[in-house]
Amino acid sequence: MITPPFRIPVEVRMRPGVLSDLAAYLNGLPDDGLLLVTDAGVAGTSWFKALRSHLPEHTIEVDIEPNPRIGTVDRIANEARSRGDQVVLAIGGGSVLDAGKAVAMLLANNGSCKDYVGKNQFPNAAAPFIAVPTTCGTGSEVTWVSVLSEPDTGTKWSVKGDGMFPTAAFVDADVIETLPAPLIAATGMDAMTHAIEAYIARQANPASDALALQAIRLLVQYLGPCVRQPERSEYRMRVMHASTLAGMAFGNADVGAVHCLSEGVGGMLDHPHGLLNTLLLVPVLRYQMPDIRDRLKEISAFLGAPMPETFLERLETMIKGFPIGSWADLEISPDLFGEIAARAESNGSNPSNRKDMKAVDYHRILAGLAA
Ligand SMILES: [Fe+2]
Repeated sequence: MITPPFRIPVEVRMRPGVLSDLAAYLNGLPDDGLLLVTDAGVAGTSWFKALRSHLPEHTIEVDIEPNPRIGTVDRIANEARSRGDQVVLAIGGGSVLDAGKAVAMLLANNGSCKDYVGKNQFPNAAAPFIAVPTTCGTGSEVTWVSVLSEPDTGTKWSVKGDGMFPTAAFVDADVIETLPAPLIAATGMDAMTHAIEAYIARQANPASDALALQAIRLLVQYLGPCVRQPERSEYRMRVMHASTLAGMAFGNADVGAVHCLSEGVGGMLDHPHGLLNTLLLVPVLRYQMPDIRDRLKEISAFLGAPMPETFLERLETMIKGFPIGSWADLEISPDLFGEIAARAESNGSNPSNRKDMKAVDYHRILAGLAA
């Protein structure tokens, strides 16, 4: 296999308050048809309303549901094509950014997202796409991938390629001040999962390692305080920056079994991505321990913890302190375990696991969680 290069071909701006530069940045882009993709939660915030008043008058605003659907993205792209929209601005969490990224790709390519599932399946580079994350977990603002749902089959599909990296990312920690504590916790733990899985992935490299370790350190130190006191700007900034660093790490090294399993569950049952990763992270890492021990030991040493087990216990304590509920609250029927496990094995990131993971492994993890 050819070693993939390390790349982040995105203009990244990271600073509290940096959204005040967005309108001036947009002035330098094509002047016709700005498509603004967001969701109702973001659209109701005071900071968004203030920002919206500075956007071009010919901005069209569309709303995205959680776990964005291929049908929604196709419909929005068709309408945008017929209007002649040229630029996509997405302001929201992972669902909004993934949807906006796919719409930008479809502005330059005919047909449906479904035609381009997989890697580099579309011929033309996407239209200019600007990503503004409003949660502290997705990392989508610096990656080339869009994960979309197909409710009819309960499947999650990935569309990705060299031409799908965002043109620019505006990472402004001030926007998470009003995010509810459970969302800060769950999306922050999604970022933690990105960083840890990137570090233990087969394709990890020195550059992704450096980003992953720094993201893990920041999240271990600041995520708990940020959940409790989001009004503290320093906590917000550390967590938000960790999220983008983790995105750069997994965007180059990939994720692993936690995401394979969470996407299997999320595709079938529509539970939030960050919440699933939060609840699956420690059980999946424990299951893989013999094969990932050396890599986890390096993370532990970086944090000053003596053993990988100590690091996992620290994570476990942190997660138990978050207001997010438990795995049992999700009430996942054991009848679904076989299908979820099969989907996890067929996930595109499954080969990135340092430990070979088969459906039977995923089934054992689910059974252990249900016991
Ligand atoms: Fe994730």
